[in-house]
Amino acid sequence: MPYFSTLYITAMHQFIKILLAVSAFCCAAHSYEWYESGNFYQIYPRSFMDSDNDGIGDLQGIKSKLQYLKDLGIDGVWLSPIYKSPDADFGYDISDFRDIHSLFGNLGDFDQLIAECNRIGLKLILDFVPNHSSDEHEWFQKSERNISGYEDYYIWRTPQIDEVSNIPVPINNWMSRFRYSAWKWSEIRQQMYYHMFVYQQPDLNYRNPKVVQEMKDVLKFWMDKGVDGFRVDAIRTLFEKMNPDGSFPGEPRSYDPNCDQYDHCSLINICTRDQPETYDMVYQWRNLMDDFATKNKVGSKVLMLESYADVDLNMIYYGNATTPGAHFPFNFELIKNTNINSTAEDFKSAVDLWLDNMPAGHIANWVLGNHDQHRIASRLGVERGDLLNILIQTLPGAAITYQGEELVMTNVHLSWNDTVDPKACNTNDPVNYEKLSRDPARTPFPWDDSKNAGFSKADSTWLPVGDDYKTVNVKAQEAAANSHLKIFKKLTTIRKESMFRFGNYTGILSNNDNVYSYKRQHENEFAVVVLNFGKSQEVVDVSSLFTSIPSKLKVYTSSLESAIADGEIVDASKVTVKGNIGLVLLNSSTMAKVNLILLIFSISFLIL
Ligand code: NOJ
Ligand code: MG
Repeated sequence: MPYFSTLYITAMHQFIKILLAVSAFCCAAHSYEWYESGNFYQIYPRSFMDSDNDGIGDLQGIKSKLQYLKDLGIDGVWLSPIYKSPDADFGYDISDFRDIHSLFGNLGDFDQLIAECNRIGLKLILDFVPNHSSDEHEWFQKSERNISGYEDYYIWRTPQIDEVSNIPVPINNWMSRFRYSAWKWSEIRQQMYYHMFVYQQPDLNYRNPKVVQEMKDVLKFWMDKGVDGFRVDAIRTLFEKMNPDGSFPGEPRSYDPNCDQYDHCSLINICTRDQPETYDMVYQWRNLMDDFATKNKVGSKVLMLESYADVDLNMIYYGNATTPGAHFPFNFELIKNTNINSTAEDFKSAVDLWLDNMPAGHIANWVLGNHDQHRIASRLGVERGDLLNILIQTLPGAAITYQGEELVMTNVHLSWNDTVDPKACNTNDPVNYEKLSRDPARTPFPWDDSKNAGFSKADSTWLPVGDDYKTVNVKAQEAAANSHLKIFKKLTTIRKESMFRFGNYTGILSNNDNVYSYKRQHENEFAVVVLNFGKSQEVVDVSSLFTSIPSKLKVYTSSLESAIADGEIVDASKVTVKGNIGLVLLNSSTMAKVNLILLIFSISFLIL
């Protein structure tokens, strides 16, 4: 009997391998790099999963939930900073670029995490924060004490001293992104240093070649550990405009009525952002990463940048064939150009802005949420939650999802007393702080309906869990017949099909500009996505919008409130779509193939 079972299991394994090989052959006629249509997921480590029950997430917690991400259809996981930090800006103030925050674990835990990612087939991307360190970093401590070799690691200048008050006067009018002067007096060095973010985040001096080399060594350190790439923080602010005599010019006033004199936006930031030297530094990092991959015969490393710059400036980051830059700067056009009242036209224009400006042969990408923004559903309407996930998952290029957006989470309201984000605390405004606070999107991830949403067994968590966790959680959405999570998984599955991976894109507005539809086509495979951004039901004539549409189409998936079942056959000339609803339509043969692949995966999962 044992002999028979072994034979049986071996035979089943062989059978499954053949089935998987056949299905892989069906879907992958091209050999593209994984990140070209990569599905990225951003983890905010403090809030993903707490393994040691101290109320703060950690690396072992993340490791224990990797299978969730794999099952979700994610390719690459990006971790917000996990490095040693005094947490003045929750990990973005790093006191050792080569060590792990003790709250999150240690380097051994990191090695285990990366091994587990490799085992289950997930890529691991780290946050790289080159613009600044913590004021507790050894380099800053040495620089502040003028220790030989470290004097110019940061940006130091001698201020005038006000004769009346005897207080040092800021070097110029530059403001921090987190309010107030960007110059901070050091009693120790008797000079001021520049900080774009909180004063505990002094800017590194990229005009010092030693700093440039140090940070390249940091990249090498983590690549040696096996990471698959980096998300670069605050790239725009890497360099500051400097006069030939070493002084810094002031910035002109913006007269923006939404900004007071202490806000960064009260000035036109022509000196503190987007300096020409920045692009070259990105090209140097890409070169280093490509060289590393070639020399070590490992897969290429992906370089993604955080930049809210205008699209024309962002395009420079891509570089060109001879001098490649980032694989992509994040595309924040959908964030910058939309709000709760945005129309189909606004969304389509934001999509076109990127696609029309992107140089040929590069990778587009789509971002709607992250740890710096309020929840997508709170910004753009909870009724549009699925529609927006459909958008992000079905456009050409990479998709980036912030943790919890697959569940269509909403902002968690936090009282002034519970608020910890320096961006909000620096307002000193217990009434209006919430507009600026990033905490509402940083609360613990809801895994189930148990204590602390299954995130932690601690008595309290670093930020409270949302009140709606009893219903908005992974377990509930997995158990439901249909849910945001289930729709998200269907999207990540279809996304692996050729029309979404390599297909071209044709977008159009219809129905009095309420509906934004697009066709994605690769060879004979195509899909049509219909997004009704209007409030009322529309009947969309898909056959008249695109060429070669068969008379009948199948609904692959749709928003939860669509009242249309997956697999329903619709008349292509009369597709009825309720307000705020999105649909993915396929022709029947594609549908049959996707169903077969889903079936194969389900059978293999059950047997294994
Ligand atoms: C951008 C990060 O996303 C944000 O969270 C952080 O506060 C600043 N950069 C400073 O590092
Ligand atoms: Mg800087």
